[in-house]
Amino acid sequence: MAQNHHLLKDPDDPYIRKILEQNIKGEQCAIQVYSELLEFTKERDPITHNTVLQILTDEVEHEDDLQALMEDLEVRKL
Ligand SMILES: [Fe+2]
Repeated sequence: MAQNHHLLKDPDDPYIRKILEQNIKGEQCAIQVYSELLEFTKERDPITHNTVLQILTDEVEHEDDLQALMEDLEVRKL
C-alpha cells in the first residue's frame, strides 16, 4: 500500500500520524456501533448476531493493526 511505503520512507512526517489517528478513531467508532448492534441482536436474531460478531472481530483486528503501526512510529522517533 502506498501509505505504508510512505510511512517507511518518512516516519517523522506528521501527516502520517494524523492519518493514523483518524483511522484509529474510525475503527473505534465502528467497534462502538457494532458492539451496540451485537447487544441489540442478542436473543432477538441469532443469525444477525453471529454476523455482527464476525464484523466486530474484524474491526477489533483493524484497530489492533493500526495501533501497532502507531507504536512502530513512536519507536522510530526515539
Ligand atoms: Fe475497519
